[in-house]
Amino acid sequence: MTDAAPRTLRAAIIGTGGIAHAHAKAIADLAPRIELVAVVDVDAARAEAFAERFGARAVYTDAADLFEAETLDLVHVCTPPVTHVPLGIQALRAGVPVLIEKPTALSLDEMDRLAAVSLETGVPALTVFQHRFGAAAQHLMGLVREGVLGRPLVAVCETLWHRSPEYFDLPWRGRWAVEGGGPTMGHGIHQFDLLLAVLGPWTRLSAFAARQSLPTDTEDVSMALVEFDSGALATVVNSIVSPRETSRLRFDFEHATVEVEHLYGYTDADWTFTPAAGHEHLAALWEREPSDEVSGHRGQLAQIVDALSGGDDPGVGVIEARRTLEFAAATYASAFRGRPVLAGEIRGDDAFAASMDGGLVPWAAIKEAAK
Ligand SMILES: NC(=O)c1ccc[n+]([C@@H]2O[C@H](COP(=O)([O-])OP(=O)(O)OC[C@H]3O[C@@H](n4cnc5c(N)ncnc54)[C@H](O)[C@@H]3O)[C@@H](O)[C@H]2O)c1
Repeated sequence: MTDAAPRTLRAAIIGTGGIAHAHAKAIADLAPRIELVAVVDVDAARAEAFAERFGARAVYTDAADLFEAETLDLVHVCTPPVTHVPLGIQALRAGVPVLIEKPTALSLDEMDRLAAVSLETGVPALTVFQHRFGAAAQHLMGLVREGVLGRPLVAVCETLWHRSPEYFDLPWRGRWAVEGGGPTMGHGIHQFDLLLAVLGPWTRLSAFAARQSLPTDTEDVSMALVEFDSGALATVVNSIVSPRETSRLRFDFEHATVEVEHLYGYTDADWTFTPAAGHEHLAALWEREPSDEVSGHRGQLAQIVDALSGGDDPGVGVIEARRTLEFAAATYASAFRGRPVLAGEIRGDDAFAASMDGGLVPWAAIKEAAK
C-alpha cells in the first residue's frame, strides 16, 4: 500500500507590493505542496498584474470578500504595518492560519489583541522572521540547546543600513501611527529577533534613540545595551543612516565565537566559527554539508507548510513574536524615559504598551514647541 500524496495547501496573499513577491516566489518554490490561489490589494491593477505573474486565479480588492469566497489553508499578510492586526484578526475569525509580515503589530496592546483572538479561535498567527530559518542559524540554535559551546558571554548585533529621504515618500513609512517606529521596528528587528532566538530571555536594557538626518517622525537610529537571563551582555544597533551597509551578529560563548556578516540574507558562507584555545575539537561540530540557500521566506514557509501538513512546529507564533516586539518597545521606553527598562515592565496602562512612541518622543516635543 502506498501513502496518498499530501493535499496541496491553498494560500492567498493580501497586499501585492514589494515583499509580496518574495512570498509568491517562496510559494512557487514549494509547489506542489502549496499553491497561490488568490490575491487581494486595494489597488486593483496591482493585484491583477501580480495574480497574472504568479498564476493566482482569483483577485479581490477587499479581504472580507476573500474570506467569504475562498477556502484557504494559509493567508500571507504583506500590507503596511497599520493593517497587520486588523487583517490578521479577520483571518483568524475566518479560521485561516495567518502569516504576518514584520512588525506583527504597532504596539504590545495591539499584539495582545491578536494573541487573544488566536488563543480563542485556536488558529495560529505567525510572524515573518526569516533569518531564524537559515541553515546556519538553525544549526547554531541546536548547538546552544545542547550546551556544547559553553555559556554565552558577549554578543554584538548590528543592522547598519542606509535609506534615502525618497524611501519615505511612501505614505506609510517613517510615521509612528502607521509603521510603528523606525529601524528598531522595521529594519534591525530581523537581526535582534535572531539574537533573542539564540540567547533567550533578556533581563534589562538601556537604550538611546535619535533622529539624525532623515525626514521621519520616527527615529533613524537606536542603540541598546542588554543583559540576558544567562548573564550574557549584548549591544544592539539599528541604523538606517550608515552609508556602508552591513548586518552583523557576533556571539562569544565560553568555548567559541560564532559570527555572521551579510546584508539582507545569509548563506553558510557568511558565517565563521572560531573555537577558543583548548576547544579546537568544537570546529568539527560546526562543520556539516554546506547550504547555499539564502536565509529568506522560502525557508520559513517550508517549516509552516510542514506544520500545516501534519508537523508540529510552525515557527514564530504570537508568544515568540511578542518577545521581539517587547524588545522594541523596551528600546523606545528606555531611550525616551532616559532610564533602564526591565523585561516585563511595560504592561497595563504603561504608555509604551499602547504605542511605541509612548507620547514621549523628544524631537516631536521640539517640533510642537516651535509651532
Ligand atoms: N521580511 C522582510 O524582509 C520584509 C522586507 C520588506 C518589507 N517587509 C514588510 O512587509 C510589509 C509590506 O511592505 P512592502 O514594502 O511590500 O510595502 P508596499 O507598500 O510595497 O506594499 C503594500 C501593499 O499593500 C497594499 N495594501 C495596503 N492596505 C491594504 C489593505 N487593507 N488590503 C489589501 N491591500 C492593502 C498596498 O496597496 C500595497 O500594494 C511591511 O510590514 C514591511 O515592513 C518585510
